[in-house]
Amino acid sequence: MACGKCSKTLDEKCSIISDPVNNVIQKMKFADGIILGSPVHYSAIGGTMKSFLDRVFLVTGVNKSMLAHKVGASVVAVRRSGGLPTFDQLNNYLNYSQMILPTSNYWNVIHGASPGEVLEDEEGIQILRVLGKNMAWLLKIIDFGKEKNPKPLIERKVYTNFIR
Ligand SMILES: Cc1cc2nc3c(=O)[nH]c(=O)nc-3n(C[C@H](O)[C@H](O)[C@H](O)COP(=O)(O)O)c2cc1C
Repeated sequence: MACGKCSKTLDEKCSIISDPVNNVIQKMKFADGIILGSPVHYSAIGGTMKSFLDRVFLVTGVNKSMLAHKVGASVVAVRRSGGLPTFDQLNNYLNYSQMILPTSNYWNVIHGASPGEVLEDEEGIQILRVLGKNMAWLLKIIDFGKEKNPKPLIERKVYTNFIR
């Protein structure tokens, strides 16, 4: 809808209240780590997920960068191809939000069409297992060091276009 109301009210809420998006925003606010996952529809994020992410990341971005310095990762399930552009699209939200991204030994894409079929993708399973271990390790390191190393202050966002 792009009404921009969230940037005026600054109440951590999307003005559309007929679905659970605002509940999820509050869950994300109190999470240390967040994993975004999407199927691949026409080499891109599924439409519902795209709408969800646009709303969540606009609300959280304008409300003092609520997700900054949380750990975030993206995972994608795909039947055949289009996994990488979808992975890139998901990561755009994490990178935009000053989140900290753990990685794996390949891009976080796993193959399968019907439920459970991904378990046959042995390499994909390893990629996600390594990602999980690295993410858990990063979360522990951050938790361990947070007293002595406070988070950087959030800077006021500078908005320019290409000519001014
Ligand atoms: C609308 C639609 C578009 C799809 N586009 C792709 C595609 O571009 N590449 C692909 O490999 N699979 C594609 N698929 C298959 C899904 O990626 C695959 O079924 C997915 O792993 C399972 O997620 P889902 O059942 O939640 O959609 C598409 C499926 C749907 C329904």
